[in-house]
Amino acid sequence: MAEVVIVPDVAAGGALAADAIEALVRDRPDAVLGLATGSTPLAIWRALATRGLDLRRVRGFALDEYVGLPDGDPRSYRATIDAEVVAVLGMDPALVRVPGEGLAGAALAGAGAAYEAAIAEAGGVDLQVLGIGRTGHIGFNEPGSSLASRTRVKTLTAVTRRDNARFFDGDVDAVPLHCVTQGLGTILDARRLVLLAFGEAKAAALAAAVEGPVTASMPASVIQLHPDVLVIADEAAAGRLRFADYYREAWASRPEWAS
Ligand code: PGA
Repeated sequence: MAEVVIVPDVAAGGALAADAIEALVRDRPDAVLGLATGSTPLAIWRALATRGLDLRRVRGFALDEYVGLPDGDPRSYRATIDAEVVAVLGMDPALVRVPGEGLAGAALAGAGAAYEAAIAEAGGVDLQVLGIGRTGHIGFNEPGSSLASRTRVKTLTAVTRRDNARFFDGDVDAVPLHCVTQGLGTILDARRLVLLAFGEAKAAALAAAVEGPVTASMPASVIQLHPDVLVIADEAAAGRLRFADYYREAWASRPEWAS
């Protein structure tokens, strides 16, 4: 069972995830972080930037990237991570990898294996940050993704492309149809998962992911197979959790040695 923490607001959620990253990096200055894009993790980077941490040696692996955007496109996840994570945290951009980077066309077939090899060479991901899509995706693993999948090219669902059209001036047709994403099996290999969900739009997916059956139809449910998962949700995103009272009680009465 994941540890589920229901926080009063987004800032508190970001601070809690930042606590986990701070503890890791103080212990291991060259830790390997799994980086997520989207709106959800922004609160983490904001909180982490205030901690006075030296993150110059931290290595990063992005979860996913669009296929087909020109190099340097500000909507690419490479550019997004450089602007929202690397610059904000004072990380070294050369130590941050994004899947499929620099590859196009047929060469993308090899992108997954190359990315997996790079993660392995780094010694694996210590802590993977995750958001959750309304479809239940983590990374861009849309419903139907194999629970054992590895980094590969995937097709985005219409729902996800509509959700992400806000980054493309509202033009859903401008949102790429394909992406390269870490697989669910890749994500499960990280030593710790920290999944955040904010807002009512995520409530159904979060409840299904945390409390529903483990199924490829709800890709985020794969987190139930991982031994060390921290789920952070605000009240709105937690609104459909059946065991919310239990999670609150467990968190409020957590032993000091476990915090
Ligand atoms: P969001 O995206 O953080 O922008 O809501 C989450 C996701 O699609 O994984």
